[in-house]
Amino acid sequence: IPVDPFDLVIFGGTGDLARRKILPGLFRRFCAGQMPEGSQIIGAARSEMTSDEYREMVSEAVAEFGSGGTCEAGTLEAFLQRVSYVTTDARGDDGWVELNGKMRDDTVRAFYFSVGPSLFGDLAERLHRFGMATPESRIVVEKPFGHDLETARALNATLAQHFHETQIYRIDHYLGKETVQNLMAVRFGNMLFEPLWNSQYVDHIQITVAETVGVGGRGTYYDNSGAMRDMVQNHLMQLLCLIAMEPPAKFDPDAVRDEKLKVIRALESVDWHHIVRGQYGGGENGPSYREDVENPKSRTESFIAMKCHISNWRWAGTPFYLRTGKRLKARASEIAVVFKEAPHSIFGADAGRHRNVLAIRLQPNEGMTLDVTIKEPGPGGMRLLDVPLDMSFAEALGPEAEEAPDAYERLIMDVIRGNQTLFMRGDEVEAAWAWTDPLIEAWQARNDVPKTYDPGSSGPEDALMLMHRDGRKWREVKP
Ligand code: BG6
Repeated sequence: IPVDPFDLVIFGGTGDLARRKILPGLFRRFCAGQMPEGSQIIGAARSEMTSDEYREMVSEAVAEFGSGGTCEAGTLEAFLQRVSYVTTDARGDDGWVELNGKMRDDTVRAFYFSVGPSLFGDLAERLHRFGMATPESRIVVEKPFGHDLETARALNATLAQHFHETQIYRIDHYLGKETVQNLMAVRFGNMLFEPLWNSQYVDHIQITVAETVGVGGRGTYYDNSGAMRDMVQNHLMQLLCLIAMEPPAKFDPDAVRDEKLKVIRALESVDWHHIVRGQYGGGENGPSYREDVENPKSRTESFIAMKCHISNWRWAGTPFYLRTGKRLKARASEIAVVFKEAPHSIFGADAGRHRNVLAIRLQPNEGMTLDVTIKEPGPGGMRLLDVPLDMSFAEALGPEAEEAPDAYERLIMDVIRGNQTLFMRGDEVEAAWAWTDPLIEAWQARNDVPKTYDPGSSGPEDALMLMHRDGRKWREVKP
């Protein structure tokens, strides 16, 4: 879908996120012909730098973090012509007049706050004071969106002083992932699944987001957050919402977000013995969590597994098991919907227990598998076997799947288009914190110490027990 010409200002334009994701992403969209004539990107940050030096930094970032491989020669030069830089002081007055001078009328204006939340208020206020914000302009903010309910409310209130909710784009980059959106297509575009999508037919749901990386380099932020705040409150919660929500009447921002909000509000509090927290230990192949964050007494979790319940008609009685962690065996994220067994086996007890599983892989190798039970081939009688009907999007769709924009590219383009469907609304974020806060407070009050797990494992033993106790098991974390 084409976009209108835009002026995009990236505050924190020299920062890590800008270099890794935003700028290379914009370059790939440029290559794909999605940056119309007359669009410009303006980096803004405190560093003293000329536009030429900034363009140099951008081209290095593109070289390092991916050009997408499909760009023609000379494209980078053309892209860089659209890029400039203004040294800007978020807490002072320097740079703002010059920045404002670059803004044009009749062009979409977007301001990306790729900075810590403590600067959101300063930026929002100056955008108004210097006359840059128009009623149509948009601001993009990143996580962490607050540290708890109180700080999230304060941030929402600060932004609301200067911008209307329809102008605020809160990024959760998981919502920009191809398969995450596909989840909605699969659920609501097919007749096959939705009639079975409830506690009558679904035994349980598993959501796993496993990472191999540790927290090296981000120790200060991470040790103050932990897996619950860093991953569950946002990414896993969003996945849970998309899996569990009622069909919205339309694929439009508020229709979708209203349904997600209802899911969060229906989440029950989690019993403490249904939460397992872990911390990776050290070993030959790397430092331990505590060494990584340079805090020998840290009680912050780098892994969490939990069993949640949604109290509504659709899901009462179906547990949702969530887990996420760092330094695990493989980088693998998937959502698995495990259906109940057939009510009666005509093949007798020997045929074993069989369950259909719909697994949606987010990364790597995006795709879906549906395990179905069939007869084991051969003359051995009626023996049953579960086999996957496998669909790898890359195989099924060929180069088109390979070229799917990454999460940031897609989301930035949605900002320009003015489509908020894949962005979190303020009330959603607050509801997620309202659910998360008491769980964190409870383990802090208990002085809970996370269980140590081996790097390269599937997490602490207790996380396996969380499922075993219920006669279930986690799917294997496979690369
Ligand atoms: C970020 C978290 O939001 O998501 C990181 O802060 C995490 O800790 C990252 O590593 C995972 O994102 P992805 O896209 O690599 O799965």
